[in-house]
Amino acid sequence: MTATTTPETPAAGDPAPAARILGWDCIEFWVGNARATAGFLLSAFGFTCTGYSGPETGHRDKVSYVLEQGEIRFVITGALDPDSPIAEHVREHGDGVHDLAWIVDDVEVAHDAAIGRGARSIRAPWTEEDESGTLHFATIATYGETQHTFVGRGRYAGPSLAPGYTDEDLLPDPLGPEVGLVGLDHVVGNVSKGSLEQWVDFYGQVLGFDQLVHFDDEAISTEYSALMSTVVWDGSKIVMPINEPADGKKKSQIQEYIEAYRGAGVQHLALATDDIVATVSALRARGVRFMTVPDTYYAEARQRLANVDGVPWDDVERLNILVDHDHEGHLLQIFTEPIMDRPTVFFEIIERRGARGFGEGNFKALFEAIERDQARRGNL
Ligand code: FE2
Repeated sequence: MTATTTPETPAAGDPAPAARILGWDCIEFWVGNARATAGFLLSAFGFTCTGYSGPETGHRDKVSYVLEQGEIRFVITGALDPDSPIAEHVREHGDGVHDLAWIVDDVEVAHDAAIGRGARSIRAPWTEEDESGTLHFATIATYGETQHTFVGRGRYAGPSLAPGYTDEDLLPDPLGPEVGLVGLDHVVGNVSKGSLEQWVDFYGQVLGFDQLVHFDDEAISTEYSALMSTVVWDGSKIVMPINEPADGKKKSQIQEYIEAYRGAGVQHLALATDDIVATVSALRARGVRFMTVPDTYYAEARQRLANVDGVPWDDVERLNILVDHDHEGHLLQIFTEPIMDRPTVFFEIIERRGARGFGEGNFKALFEAIERDQARRGNL
C-alpha cells in the first residue's frame, strides 16, 4: 500500500482556527424540495425532525427542516423564491451539501484567524438573538461553493437550533426499525484535477488541520479509473478526506462527480454506528439501496482477512458489507447509492472495531462496483 503520513504543519503566529473547533454543529443541504428530502431521510434513514423554520416562523424566503440522529444533525433547506441563492445553487449543482458547520469556542477569533491566514470570508461575524440567548456565527469559503460556518453556542440555551426555528408541530417519525446511527465519522470532498495540494494546504496552513494520511493514485486505482486522496483532520473530531481525479483508462468516478456537480463539493458523509449489522438490516428494511459488491469480493476478503477475529462473515456477506483492517483492528463499511438525482452525494455507514483507516483495502472492490453503476449511466 503506497500510503504515506506526514508530520503536522507548523502553525504560524496566532493559534489556527483548528484550535478553536469543539466539534460538528450541523451539515446543511441546499435542495430543490426540502419537504420531500426531509421526508426521505426520516423514513429511509431513521432521522427525527427536531426543528423547522419557514414562513410560519418568520422566514419568508426559505424553509429548513432540522433532522437529528445520535450526534448527527442535518439541516435540509429549500428556496421559496426563484431569485434565492438557494435556488441558484440547486440549478447549478443539483441537491447538495452547502455548509459544513463547526461549533467553536470563539467565533470572532476563529474567523479572524482564518482570514488572517488567507481564508475568504463569506460573512463576517454576526449574532442572532431570542429569549434563549445569543448565537454567534461567521462563515468562510472552502472548495467549490461549499462553506464552513463557525457557530458559537456558549450563550444560547436552545432548545431550538437557532432563532427563527420552532420545535413544535414537526414532521412525525415514520414507522420503521431503529437505525442506530451515532455520529459523523468523516466528510469527504471531491476537488478538480490538479487542485488537491491547494486544498490540503488550505486545511493545513489556513485552518491548522494536520495531514492524517495520503493515498496516491497507485493505491487507489482499478483497471479503468484512479484517484488521489489526502485525509486532513483537526486532531480530534473533524476528519475530512479530499479526493482528486487521476488519469486511468476511463473517466475517474471523481471526474464524473465534478462534471455532475459542476465543480468541487462534498461527495460522501460517513455515518458511524456501533452495530453495522443491525443498522444495515434496518436501512434495508426501510428501503435504502446500497452499492453492490462484486461476487468475488467475499472469497477474496475472507482470505485477505483470514487472521482477523470476530468478523461476522455470514451477516457481512448477506448484507453486502465491506471489511478492512489495519494494525489497530478492523472496520466494517457500506456505501449507499447516490441519495440525490445526480450521481453526486452518498452516505457511507461505518462501524470501527479499532481500525482507524478509511477502507483502503476496499477501494478497488468499491470502485469496481461504482464503475458498474457509472457504466450503466453511460459515463465510464
Ligand atoms: Fe469514506
